[in-house]
Amino acid sequence: MSDVSSAIPTRAPWWQSGVVYQIYPRSFQDSTGDGTGDLPGVIQRLDYLVSLGVDAIWLSPFYPSPMADFGYDISDYRDVDPLFGTLEDAERLIREAHDRGLKVIVDYVPNHTSDQHPWFVESRRSRDGPKRDWYIWHDPNEDGGVPNNWRSVFGGSAWTLDEATGQFYLHSFLEEQPDLNWRNPDVQREMMDVLRFWLDRGVDGFRVDVLWLLIKDDQFRDDPPNPDYDPDKPGSWELKQVYSGNRPEVHNIVRMMRDTVDEYDRRLLIGEVYLEFSELVRYYGEDLQGAHLPFNFSLILNPWEVDVVADLITRYEAELPDGAWPNWVLGNHDQSRLATRVGADQTRVAAMLLLTLRGTPTIYYGEEIGMSDVSIPKEEQVDPAGKVIPWMNRDPERTPMQWEAGPRAGFTTGEPWLPIADDADEVNVAVQREDRESLLSFYRWLLQFPRSEAAISLGDYERVWHEGGVLAYVRTDGKRRFLIALNFGGEDASLPLDGADSGTVVVSTGISRVGSQVTGSVDLAAHEGVIVALPLVDNDAS
Ligand code: NOJ
Repeated sequence: MSDVSSAIPTRAPWWQSGVVYQIYPRSFQDSTGDGTGDLPGVIQRLDYLVSLGVDAIWLSPFYPSPMADFGYDISDYRDVDPLFGTLEDAERLIREAHDRGLKVIVDYVPNHTSDQHPWFVESRRSRDGPKRDWYIWHDPNEDGGVPNNWRSVFGGSAWTLDEATGQFYLHSFLEEQPDLNWRNPDVQREMMDVLRFWLDRGVDGFRVDVLWLLIKDDQFRDDPPNPDYDPDKPGSWELKQVYSGNRPEVHNIVRMMRDTVDEYDRRLLIGEVYLEFSELVRYYGEDLQGAHLPFNFSLILNPWEVDVVADLITRYEAELPDGAWPNWVLGNHDQSRLATRVGADQTRVAAMLLLTLRGTPTIYYGEEIGMSDVSIPKEEQVDPAGKVIPWMNRDPERTPMQWEAGPRAGFTTGEPWLPIADDADEVNVAVQREDRESLLSFYRWLLQFPRSEAAISLGDYERVWHEGGVLAYVRTDGKRRFLIALNFGGEDASLPLDGADSGTVVVSTGISRVGSQVTGSVDLAAHEGVIVALPLVDNDAS
């Protein structure tokens, strides 16, 4: 139980009250019949996104790429891969989104390029070439082995020997993804110009890939062992990334990116950062001149349990620097899907949580219809990461969007690049759009109201607590006051109204009770969530 409070921002920027929707372009909508989604496909579905009620789309990479890591290995930052369309398609997408009032956020992958990028081709050509120092090269150690113990996130050493020049290059991910040398001012300048290239084309912001990994120790010291390492636990790391990531100097680079984004009006910088709260919040930067939103993945990485979630909210809020705006994420293209993690029974509770917590929410495509992980046999796996680390496979959460019934779910007329889910005939947009009790209708409702309520989108917490299986918080902007009560359990529960005699249920996962009055306490069915409008507390009354 705890008290949490913070100031209500005045004249908030769009991204504070806005909701972000992540599109993995390969899997959203194919317009050509080649089985892979593309940018014209996204354009076809913009009206759907408007009707859903989100404010911004974030597109995972669509740039030219050999696709060793499905686009996170970029060979040209200033173009579009033919698989996804053309640069004109990207420009049209930005225009058409803007015409509909949607913002566009694009992925920016600064830590590494593809090994096919002309910069790296040039860099590996010779030890004294002009681009050698654009990447991180190191001599072998005395035994001719790797320079240090740094590991690739995808398994194995982070170093690969270039036989021709006799040095190792660093890759925090696949060997096809060499790390850029962000200590080099030429790299910094060039990569700031990449940001400007897309800002000039009207994008409203960037999601920056692996922001915390950009700078590595200049003395190349070994990472220490991780005392909590558990070989049976997926995601567990043998080493703590003390020297191969999250170096203090990274904040200068974040600041540089922010300054570049700030050359333009109303643009947003989101950072992908997988770190504990205390370190994560440092990415807001000194005087909040870093990332506007360092992604908060804590709801994905921790168990879906009422006390755990209550504690996350409290600890996160306590760690936030003054004036920093929070954010919450329930899924992305690297993590098991929400419905699979929390179970179908809890998806509405999770949606209500995401869309009523203080902070900018990010929805992963398909979450709004309850798409689950699709199990894909090992021999059919296409995710390269999983080929190195046996437990790792991100294919299940990347399968095609389920638009309608039928063998290809309205995603493609061809052979989809990943299988369509078996449940697509029932779990799809067309079916759920017609059903006012569907999950999709529930999301649409949440995205209209309460998101349009300043008390909920921008307001403060009066209090956050949990009681039995129920997570509860009161949000207010001083004009209106709402209790959100979420039953994480499979049993009925009852929660006393917080200091109020009565209130009105304004949203509920059980649609029939909306509009009803509650007195003294609110009763919740198993897996039910409600939003109750409470009277304002009259502070002058006592
Ligand atoms: C994080 C991205 O989200 C993931 O998909 C990718 O494989 C790595 N960064 C490497 O770019």
